[in-house]
Amino acid sequence: MTSILKAKQKLLRLARTALKNAYAPYSDFQVGAAILLKDGRTFTGCNVENASYGLTICAERNAIFAAVAASKKKPVIIAVAVVNRRGVPCSPCGACRQVIAEFGPDAVVWYQGKTEIVGRTMRELLVDGFVL
Ligand code: THU
Repeated sequence: MTSILKAKQKLLRLARTALKNAYAPYSDFQVGAAILLKDGRTFTGCNVENASYGLTICAERNAIFAAVAASKKKPVIIAVAVVNRRGVPCSPCGACRQVIAEFGPDAVVWYQGKTEIVGRTMRELLVDGFVL
């Protein structure tokens, strides 16, 4: 099996485990994310909602922020996986795309599509994204 396929399966498995910890009492939409860094480390996150709805943080950003907090240098994301408990289509939201691009402009993102897991590059998901 190719290493990219192994990475995909590992990240999807990690994301499925992470979604079990989602705190989503308002939407009842549990999401899990896993990221693979260039140095080989993986991090996971789940969505965390709040009674003040706008304070909700998505699973993807929680995974990325955990990686940043555990890294002395800027982490480089090479792959991301996102799953949800309902198994419905769920690609990263616009805010998460911008944050993924910050640390993984060349990353591949796997997420649940209509019938199967879809793989897209960050360049496809965020055309002409904002950078400084
Ligand atoms: N959500 C994520 O965590 N990631 C996504 O890619 C899409 C949406 C969360 C945010 C909110 O807690 C719930 O899903 C419903 O929007």
